[in-house]
Amino acid sequence: MRASIDDQKLVNLPILGDARGSLCVIEGERDTSFPIARVYYIFGTAPGVSRGFHAHLALRQLAVCVRGSCTMILDDGNSRRSVILDRPDLGVTIGPMIWREMHDFSEDAVLMVLADQCHNETDYIRNYDAFLAMVHAS
Ligand code: TYD
Repeated sequence: MRASIDDQKLVNLPILGDARGSLCVIEGERDTSFPIARVYYIFGTAPGVSRGFHAHLALRQLAVCVRGSCTMILDDGNSRRSVILDRPDLGVTIGPMIWREMHDFSEDAVLMVLADQCHNETDYIRNYDAFLAMVHAS
C-alpha cells in the first residue's frame, strides 16, 4: 500500500502534572504503535541549518520536540505537509516511504525521535529523485 502523509498522525501525549511540574510518558506499542528499539535526539543545531532530507524503506518513528521548536515537512511523493513541533507533549508519527525535512530549529531545540529499528544505513533513501521514482513505480 502506498504511504500517505494523511497517515502520519499527530499524537497528543497526556501531561501528568502536579504541583512539582509536568511529566510525559511514551510507552512502546501503547503510544507509538510499534516497539521502541532506538531513541536519538538532535540538539545544538546551528542557526539556519535544516536536517533530514531522506525517507526510510521500513523504519517507523515518532518525533517529539521536547524543548524549543522546529518545522517538520512530510512528503509522500504526491503531497507535502508541514507540522510545527513546539510542545513537549506533541508528537508526529513518520512511517516508511515518507520523505522528511526538518527546518526552523530554534536555538534551544531538542528533537527526540523514537524508532522501531536500530540504525541501518541501507534503510535510507537520501536522494529525492530516487524517492519519487520509487513512489511512482509502486
Ligand atoms: P542523519 O540520519 O544524516 O541525520 P538527519 O536527521 O539530519 O537526517 O544522521 C547523522 C549521522 O549520524 C550519520 O552519520 C548517521 C549517524 N546516525 C547514527 O549513527 N545512528 C542513528 O541512529 C542516527 C539517526 C544517525
